[in-house]
Amino acid sequence: RGPDPFTPTGQPSGDTTETRAQGGAYLTTATGTRLPDTDHSLKAGPRGPVLLRDHHLREKITHFDHERIPERVVHARGAAAHGVFRAYGTAANVTKAAFLAKDVETPVFVRFSTVLGSRGSADAVRDTRGFATKFYTSEGIFDLVGNNIPVFFIQDAIKFPDIIHAGKPHPDREIPQAQSAHDTFWDFVSLHTEATHHTLWNMSDRGIPRSYRMMEGFGVHTFRLVAEDGATTLVKFHWKPKAGVHSLVWEEAQIVNGVDPDFHRRDLADAIEAGAYPEWEFGIQILPDTGEQTFEGIDLLDPTKIVPEELAPVQPIGLLTLNANPANFFAETEQVAFHVGHVVPGIDVTDDPLMAGRLFSYLDTQISRLGGPNFDQLPINRTHAPVNDMLRDGMHQTAVHTGVAPYRPNSLDGGCPFQAPGGYVEVPYPVEAAARGRVAPASFDDHFSQPRLFWLSMSPVEQAHIIAAYTFELSKVFEQTIRERQLQVLARIDPYLCEQVALGLGLPVPEGKPEVYVEPSPALSQVGKTWPTKG
Ligand code: HEM
Repeated sequence: RGPDPFTPTGQPSGDTTETRAQGGAYLTTATGTRLPDTDHSLKAGPRGPVLLRDHHLREKITHFDHERIPERVVHARGAAAHGVFRAYGTAANVTKAAFLAKDVETPVFVRFSTVLGSRGSADAVRDTRGFATKFYTSEGIFDLVGNNIPVFFIQDAIKFPDIIHAGKPHPDREIPQAQSAHDTFWDFVSLHTEATHHTLWNMSDRGIPRSYRMMEGFGVHTFRLVAEDGATTLVKFHWKPKAGVHSLVWEEAQIVNGVDPDFHRRDLADAIEAGAYPEWEFGIQILPDTGEQTFEGIDLLDPTKIVPEELAPVQPIGLLTLNANPANFFAETEQVAFHVGHVVPGIDVTDDPLMAGRLFSYLDTQISRLGGPNFDQLPINRTHAPVNDMLRDGMHQTAVHTGVAPYRPNSLDGGCPFQAPGGYVEVPYPVEAAARGRVAPASFDDHFSQPRLFWLSMSPVEQAHIIAAYTFELSKVFEQTIRERQLQVLARIDPYLCEQVALGLGLPVPEGKPEVYVEPSPALSQVGKTWPTKG
């Protein structure tokens, strides 16, 4: 892994990856004292009592007692791999990011995950998959913390605790929602219809990938690229698997989850061990950075919307190859800490209100999950760029900072570090007065035109799978009003979809104008007029 940036000089010191390998000739305590016996505690006589002075007994048990750390509050179940990213150079005209220049190779660590299950849950459940990539670039770490679905459930991060509470196991029985009562999830998504698009992708075959190696990945939000001359461009990031996109069918997934709950993590590790290295092409949709931050009427700050590839083709900019399994799951896969705010010069964030909340949330949760503010020093999280951050002390500080003046300017430590243009640009836009409530632009209220686009793009077999998925999932909802409300949501996607699911549930097809929480926007009404009747 990377060089240790925490040498007294602050300069990389070469590979100092720490290994506490089980390979030495002698068994020792944590502090290196050789041990004669690790199987018998020290007793006063052969039948005891056991003596408190047995340091090894206490050290061994104490350490074991503290082995667990909190699992991630979401995306707890995951698998990861090391690899390399090689840039084609095709993005060099839109970004000054050094790792995107032609033929530059950058080490990466990628973690795939489910969202809702706990650490010990099954792999092949119907869920969104995380696709998080840490690029250890020469200019610092760039984390692309994406999913295998290009849109998200909500438009404002303030609802994130709510959608997750609704989706996690029911608080009374802690039974995972798949195979059990689904009332809270369907209650939420039928009341907050901005979730319709993401939910539809979940109900499609994309919700049960065959393999992590066969999933697309998406940055979801719109990002801003900055070129050498300062020109800015808006982009959407895409990962396209070389192995193609493949899914399980529902019955396969049921069997797989029973027979091999570790199916996806085993598949990833086995493929890499066998030398069949998984590959993805990295691509961007390039969109002009206009003041409105819209493209063909699509609000680029709305994470429930895609930009269809027909309107803005994905342009390949590099190749990701995963070629090494982690040596230790806890040290690497569990302790890796991704953050949307880890960007490098040439890549920046935007004002997407979901992204704003994420920029706060990841660091905040990691302080609690990884025990203090110094987890950037863990080997898997270390940058490969020199660090000179003026951050000091704190829990689990492992660096020995020299110097007495961690502030600038100073006249004690040989001057002051330069401040240079770097990873964060401020593009000047007019900002309106503070407001809370339903003040989002009108296009944020269009919750149905893109789900409808997705539905119509499906083949008849794929549509049949979607109908079966909604029917199965809603059959697990006990509260009749929730089922009926969700049928009204389906009616707004497509009357045939609604009718088929209603038939499957044995419920009447809703009549008249669907009653849902959000009033239709003018754009939505237009779409409604063109609904064909199918079937
Ligand atoms: C974790 C993606 C929205 C909070 C993750 C992970 C991924 C991800 C891939 C797992 C990272 C890993 O493997 O370690 C996304 C995407 C989102 C989204 C694509 C929307 C576009 C949000 C929002 C919040 C949030 C809105 C909160 C406001 C978290 C937290 C974790 C997490 C707290 C756990 C991080 C950790 O413990 O290290 N997310 N997320 N996410 N996400 Fe998100």
